[in-house]
Amino acid sequence: MPPMHDLVHAARSRREEALAGLPATDAFRLVDGAGDGLPDIEIDEFAGNWLVSTRDRAVPAALAELARDSGRSVYAKRLDQQVRESPRHLAGPSIDAPFLARECGLNFEISFQAGYSQGIFLDQRDNRRQLRELLAPGSTLLNTFAYTGAFSIAAAAAGATTTTLDLSQPYLDWARRNFAHNQLDASEHHFCKGDTFHWLRRFARQGRRFDAIVLDPPTFSRAGDGSVFRVEKDYGRLVGLALDCLADDGVLLASTNCRKLTLADFIDQVRSGAPRAVEITAAEMPPDFTGEAYLKSLWIR
Ligand SMILES: C[S@@+](CC[C@H](N)C(=O)[O-])C[C@H]1O[C@@H](n2cnc3c(N)ncnc32)[C@H](O)[C@@H]1O
Repeated sequence: MPPMHDLVHAARSRREEALAGLPATDAFRLVDGAGDGLPDIEIDEFAGNWLVSTRDRAVPAALAELARDSGRSVYAKRLDQQVRESPRHLAGPSIDAPFLARECGLNFEISFQAGYSQGIFLDQRDNRRQLRELLAPGSTLLNTFAYTGAFSIAAAAAGATTTTLDLSQPYLDWARRNFAHNQLDASEHHFCKGDTFHWLRRFARQGRRFDAIVLDPPTFSRAGDGSVFRVEKDYGRLVGLALDCLADDGVLLASTNCRKLTLADFIDQVRSGAPRAVEITAAEMPPDFTGEAYLKSLWIR
């Protein structure tokens, strides 16, 4: 294997080429495991700071040395959905407060202290861009399972009025801060705390229709009423409920990072919930994700 420095340097050159067309972006996946010759190691760069994630292995000594030599702030965590540990400081100046990273000219609050996830899922960058391009000023977006509202920010930047829905109040507060970080007035947008299934039924009953809806649920979720949602078997039902709230010429983005589900099976699931869909288009992952293509995304009309 070439020395660590050469592998990371080559990975950076590939990113510089692949992401050259993006405006004002300093949040990207610098190293994506086997795709960059470093199996089970990922490095995400946020405003120059690194988050090293490893699967079933410690940070290799050569990478820890490179991290120290880089002078950057470097944090590390294990990729383990059971343990879900927070990043720990590995090298360089420690970062004790949230900071901003940029994607396509938009600001997103990043935190190395907030737990297993850092505030933005970089693998959704191209879907956020696509949504921003699709939405006209005055249109409406319903962002379900919204986490820190990154899709809402992209849509609001296009002039859409957004509804950001999540079970977690701390994440909704984080989403509001993301609006503020982009000089977007959160009071002109809507925030709903609670279960996506509950709210979709409620919007449908109220006759609410949205021009775009984003579905990006966790692989497994337990709703407020104790019922369980599993992507592999329940996605079709979720799509059906969402379609009841979609405008006639609206667009639905259905996404999942469930590794157990193939793209073909995911399309079947989505079709079962959207038998009248006129167009279902699969989107690829962003080019900095050179490793496993685990994220499946379908644009449905
Ligand atoms: C995978 S993250 C979604 C990432 C987000 N779509 C993005 O691109 O930033 C899952 C989110 O779903 C929320 N969540 C889990 N179960 C939920 C439910 N039943 N209803 C609403 N939100 C839920 C979690 O709080 C978490 O913020």
